[in-house]
Amino acid sequence: MNFRPQGSDQRDDLEPLRLSRRAALGSAGAAGIAALLGEAGCGSASKASSPTAVPFFGEHQAGIATPAQKKLSFTALDFTSTSATELRELLQVWTQAAAALTAGHTPSTLTDLSGAATPDSLEALGLGASRLTITIGLGPGLFEMEGEDRLGLRARRPAELAPLPSLPGDEMQPLRSGGDLCIQACADDPQVAFHATHTLLRLAHGAAVARWSQLGFSRTSSTSRSQATPRNLMGFKDGTNNLKLEDATALDRHVWVATSEGAGWMSGGTYLVARRIRILFDVWDATDVEAQEQAVGRRKLSGAPLGAQNEHDPVDLHATTANGPSIPTDAHVRLSAPETNGGIKILRRGYSYFDGADAETGQIDAGLFFISFQRDPQQFVSLQRRLGVDDALAKHLSHTGSALFACPPGPRRGSFVGASLLS
Ligand code: HEM
Repeated sequence: MNFRPQGSDQRDDLEPLRLSRRAALGSAGAAGIAALLGEAGCGSASKASSPTAVPFFGEHQAGIATPAQKKLSFTALDFTSTSATELRELLQVWTQAAAALTAGHTPSTLTDLSGAATPDSLEALGLGASRLTITIGLGPGLFEMEGEDRLGLRARRPAELAPLPSLPGDEMQPLRSGGDLCIQACADDPQVAFHATHTLLRLAHGAAVARWSQLGFSRTSSTSRSQATPRNLMGFKDGTNNLKLEDATALDRHVWVATSEGAGWMSGGTYLVARRIRILFDVWDATDVEAQEQAVGRRKLSGAPLGAQNEHDPVDLHATTANGPSIPTDAHVRLSAPETNGGIKILRRGYSYFDGADAETGQIDAGLFFISFQRDPQQFVSLQRRLGVDDALAKHLSHTGSALFACPPGPRRGSFVGASLLS
C-alpha cells in the first residue's frame, strides 16, 4: 500500500509505490512495518501532520478518550479465516492503513490480504484528516466459537470478554448483533469516516467480511469539557454527567484495564459495548414535556437536573418537593447515577441514527447507537439490568442490536493494534 498527503484532486498525481503484503508482513515483522511506514511517509502520524489529525499511536487507542467527532461509521465483521497468523496480518495491515488515513494521507495503491493490488477509492481525497479516528475491537468469537478454539487463542481470552447476556429491554436482531472484529471510524466529515471503513474492509478481503454496520449522524455525548453538550433525538441534552477525558484518574478507574487485572495483553485497553436502541417515537411524541422531564430527571430546555437551575448543577437525589423526591424514583438519571449503583461509571460515546421508515407501520427507525467504554463489561450489564426494568424511559426504547469487543491498548509506533495478544 502506498500513501501520499491529501490535498491534490488530480488522479494522475498519485504515484503508486508498490508495497506488497509479503514485503510488509512476511519476514519484516513489526520492525519492517515501522520502516515501511517511515518510507511511506506515515511514521509521523502522532505528530499530527494535518491540522485536523488526531494522533493514532499512543498508550490507548484513539476514538475513546478523544473529543467525540460529529459522525460515526461503525462496522462489525465476521473473521472467515481459521488462522491466527492471518488475524495478525490483518491487524498489521489495518494499523498501517489507519495510521496513514488518520494522519490525512490517501493511499495511492492498496494491496489487500489476498495480495491483490487496487487503487484507493478516492472518495475522501481533498477532505483532510477531519479528526478521523479508527478504533479496532476484537470480539469473543475470535477466542471461541460454538465451543471451538478456532484460532488457538482460547487460553488468552479475558474472562471479561464473554458474550453479553440477555438483558431486559432486548428485542435483538441477530444480524445487527455480534461480530468477531469491529471498526469504529469517527470523523467530522461523514465521507472521511466512510472512506476509512471502506478502505479497511477492502484490505480485509479474503479474511473477514462485514456482518453489520451502523452510521451515526450526530454525536450524543460530550467526552471533553471543551465540548458543548449535544441533544439526543428525544430532544434532551445528553452527556452532561459523562466521564470526561480531562478526568484522567476517573478514566483509569472506570475505563482503562489496569496492568494488575485480567488478561495482561489488555492492559491499557478497554471494552466497547455497542447497543442499537430504537426510540419508540409514537409513544414518546405523545408524552407531554413535563412527563418527559420526569422520565429523564432533567429539564428538557436547560438540561438542569429537576430541583436545580443549571445544566451543570449537581444531581441532588435527596432534594424533595411537597409531592416527594424532585427526581422521581424511576427517573433515568437517578437509576443510572453512580450514587445508586455502587459507584459504577462508564464512558458514553454514542451517536444518533436514522435508518428510514417501516412501510408497514409508518414508524421511523431512529434512535441512539449507544457506545460505552468500560474496563469491565459488567459495568454496563449491571446498569442495564436495572434500567431495562425500572427506568421510566424503558417503555420508549427497544434494544435491537448488541455487541461486545475488547479494544486492545494503543499501538506503539512500529507496532500494531493487538500486538500484545498476537506478537
Ligand atoms: C436511547 C437511550 C438513552 C437515552 C435517550 C439516554 C439519555 C440520557 C440523558 C438525557 C441523560 C442525562 C444527561 C447526562 O448526564 O448525560 C443520561 C444520563 C445517563 N445515562 Fe442515559 N440514555 C439512554 C440509554 C442509556 C443506557 C443504555 C445506559 C447504560 C446502561 C445509560 C447510562 C446513563 C448514565 C450512566 C448517565 C449519567 C447519570 C448521572 O451520573 O447523572 N443511558 N442518559
